[in-house]
Amino acid sequence: MSGRLAQGTVAVLGFGHQGEVQALNLRDAGLAVVVGARPGGESERRASAAGFATRDPAGALRGARTVAVLLPDQALPAAWPALAPALAPGAALVFAHGFNLLFGGLAFPESVDVVLVAPTGPGSALRAAREGGAPLPAYLAVHREASGVAWEVAEAYAAALGCAPLWRTTVREETEVDLFGEQVVLCGGMNALVTAAFETLVEHGYTPEIAYLECVHQLKYLADLLHARGVAGLRDAISGTALFGDLSRGPRVIGPESRAEMRAILDEIRSGDFARAWAREASGGRRWLDAEVERARGHALEAARRRALAGGSDPAKGD
Ligand SMILES: NC(=O)c1ccc[n+]([C@@H]2O[C@H](COP(=O)([O-])OP(=O)(O)OC[C@H]3O[C@@H](n4cnc5c(N)ncnc54)[C@H](OP(=O)(O)O)[C@@H]3O)[C@@H](O)[C@H]2O)c1
Repeated sequence: MSGRLAQGTVAVLGFGHQGEVQALNLRDAGLAVVVGARPGGESERRASAAGFATRDPAGALRGARTVAVLLPDQALPAAWPALAPALAPGAALVFAHGFNLLFGGLAFPESVDVVLVAPTGPGSALRAAREGGAPLPAYLAVHREASGVAWEVAEAYAAALGCAPLWRTTVREETEVDLFGEQVVLCGGMNALVTAAFETLVEHGYTPEIAYLECVHQLKYLADLLHARGVAGLRDAISGTALFGDLSRGPRVIGPESRAEMRAILDEIRSGDFARAWAREASGGRRWLDAEVERARGHALEAARRRALAGGSDPAKGD
């Protein structure tokens, strides 16, 4: 482990999805960790219960040689002006996503390194990787070089987290690709696809529970195959009927119109339009977002899920 990382305390700001797991992994790697959490808040209580020393966020920064900035992306721009003056000269700042480095307008003192160590999965996958589970790759980038050893700091931090292999990139590439992936495939695309497929079957008179099991529930087994073997390997594992349907029908589902939308979404990410829209929504109290989440919670797909997993139909009743 880099001497620089091992010297002094690592302050972890935020004890949410990433903050909690990064604090645990760094402690398991033998580093001295202090958690920066709002006094009296839920995170302060949980971090103390997990045995961490806690300070208010600015207090945690003072004297820390390395600072992991793991506050929610939408909260950081407002919180940062009160935090930056507390940074020790020569500290290294570690971000887990480049969003605010690219779009947040954050100001940094001259003497600090600012690096990106972005694990390529959620906190649960990062914790599992540290505990000997499946390896979790991470992207590394240097946003601001002050010490001359910023790449080494990023590599040592990622190794302490338990990430491997490590991929050098830029803040711009990590941010744009991460946003594109979550919007087009991992969250936006997947949720829209399974919802539309469920609705199509139910509109045509099929049983909602069966539509749910087929178009949503089974996705996990195929995603696991994709994760383990890639697209070609998944195709080796499915029936001939499924394979013919895959290659002859899949490109119609994601046809020219979907590809044009993918390009439009990428343009909005690259131009900063998406970041500005999200900043407006977050600073306006997330009214549209929270209403959409609530509306989707009431979708027929959720009730079908509860029924589908609670038990099958009664054979005595027949069709
Ligand atoms: N979630 C993931 O799987 C994932 C994966 C890769 C990278 N990342 C990146 O990791 C970073 C953290 O994301 P996250 O999902 O872990 O965030 P999160 O779970 O939403 O973070 C919540 C934490 O931030 C604290 N917090 C919120 N507002 C604050 C403020 N104004 N001042 C001080 N503390 C505040 C909360 O404290 P209280 O309890 O006091 O409210 C809580 O400890 C982001 O840059 C994200 O893009 C996340």
